[in-house]
Amino acid sequence: MFRLDHKIALVTGGGRGLGRAIALAFAEQGADVAVTSRTPEQLNEVAELIRAQNRRALAVECDVSDSASVAQMVETTRQEFGRIDVLVNCAGVGWAEKLAEMSDGTFDWIVKTNLYGTFYCCREVLRGMIAQKSGSLINIASVAGAKGVPGLGAYGASKGGVITMTKALAMENTRHNIRVNAIAPGYFRTDMNSAILDDPDAGPKIVKRIPMRRAGDPKEIGGLAIYLTSDEASFVTGEVYFISGGEMAQ
Ligand SMILES: NC(=O)c1ccc[n+]([C@@H]2O[C@H](COP(=O)([O-])OP(=O)(O)OC[C@H]3O[C@@H](n4cnc5c(N)ncnc54)[C@H](OP(=O)(O)O)[C@@H]3O)[C@@H](O)[C@H]2O)c1
Repeated sequence: MFRLDHKIALVTGGGRGLGRAIALAFAEQGADVAVTSRTPEQLNEVAELIRAQNRRALAVECDVSDSASVAQMVETTRQEFGRIDVLVNCAGVGWAEKLAEMSDGTFDWIVKTNLYGTFYCCREVLRGMIAQKSGSLINIASVAGAKGVPGLGAYGASKGGVITMTKALAMENTRHNIRVNAIAPGYFRTDMNSAILDDPDAGPKIVKRIPMRRAGDPKEIGGLAIYLTSDEASFVTGEVYFISGGEMAQ
């Protein structure tokens, strides 16, 4: 069960953090994987690790907030692999600032990357999936997309949008045999938030709000992504899976 042999996966934000962990977990289960972000050195390193597992890999640069760049990236991936069976939208940016103090530019940057980026990638990949009548999309949302977190208003709005878009995409595509689900992480230790987790004042306060009293390790997200991608999840669509050390149960 849960093998991904013969599946072609595309993971945005696959150069580091949660995307990297998901890309490597997919390869371990037998998938060929394309990874994309704006930092080729990180992508090439992940691609090498995937090839070391005897899987095919592709590192392709793309800015997900630019629809032309996304179209080019998806086309390159299709040309290399012939098809895309799985898309994980993991590229994203985090920023903590009260909405009353936030500039237009910061709000635009967060929403353009997290929400528009997810839209652009889903749209491009869906065209091929609809034609091939199969596919699975996983959008990485956040706990902050489902509850009000002070300082994370813009980020939470972008991720709340991702959750709602996931459900709509699921409804629009069941007839095409395409499943669409979201994973909504709580705090995981990655470049995005290691500074705040290590902050002597803010870090302990964050950890105290997590029932398990620790941040997640990126390795702890791969299993859920594998399940949602696998044929074992064939009846699962339009769902949002929280993975937060108990934070969402409070
Ligand atoms: N870590 C957490 O606690 C946590 C919690 C909830 C949700 N999430 C979500 O999980 C996802 C991954 O986050 P992470 O913690 O792994 O952060 P990370 O280590 O900072 O990785 C973010 C990834 O997204 C890519 N990215 C950012 N902007 C991009 C753009 N415009 N175009 C293409 N790629 C872009 C980055 O690559 P480049 O910068 O090199 O382009 C990087 O590969 C994000 O969507 C985040 O919101 C994380």
